[in-house]
Amino acid sequence: MKRGRCGSIMPSPTDAKLVDNIFLIGPMGSGKTSLGRRVAARLGLDFIDLDEELERRCGVEVAVIFDIEGEAGFRQREHDLLADIAQRRKQLIATGGGVILDPRNRQLINAHGYAIWLKASVDQQIRRLERDRRRPLLAAPDRRARLNALAEQRNPIYAETANQVLESRNLPVARMADLLESALRPVLDTADSAL
Ligand code: S3P
Repeated sequence: MKRGRCGSIMPSPTDAKLVDNIFLIGPMGSGKTSLGRRVAARLGLDFIDLDEELERRCGVEVAVIFDIEGEAGFRQREHDLLADIAQRRKQLIATGGGVILDPRNRQLINAHGYAIWLKASVDQQIRRLERDRRRPLLAAPDRRARLNALAEQRNPIYAETANQVLESRNLPVARMADLLESALRPVLDTADSAL
């Protein structure tokens, strides 16, 4: 498939199998969970939040996994879960911000779905995550520096993985959800009509 960038989103009918699932990728605080939860049912998709599912299966919070097993342990669990979930269809999957770091995950996402990058600025992230105390990677003396460093490392990887980019605007969640729905509907409709 020709990878779409901002706005160019129409896969050809032969790409139908690529939209078995929709993957929301992007950094912490970009709205993957809140928007995904709102939009999935409207599109007739099951909503899965990978971190929540991991916490449900492990019985502990992500921060505890980081504490006990380190980031490497968390990444392995994250990969195993993604490999499992990606086998199912008709899901809108909110991934964790670092999921794209593992090339195996990028391969899974591209093989089992259509990836949309919710792109947020560091300023937006800082505002939205102001009260967050649950994310281990935010436990840094200088959050802005940490988020900038993550963005510098990860933005090229989000860009490489994404089929489409949706810029996070300073709009109410309900309005952003409408934009996400409008962005995804043609992708799913194209797939349905090709079945
Ligand atoms: C992480 C993002 C988190 C979670 C974990 C690591 C990251 O998910 O997976 O704390 O590496 O950016 P969200 O993007 O949903 O906050």
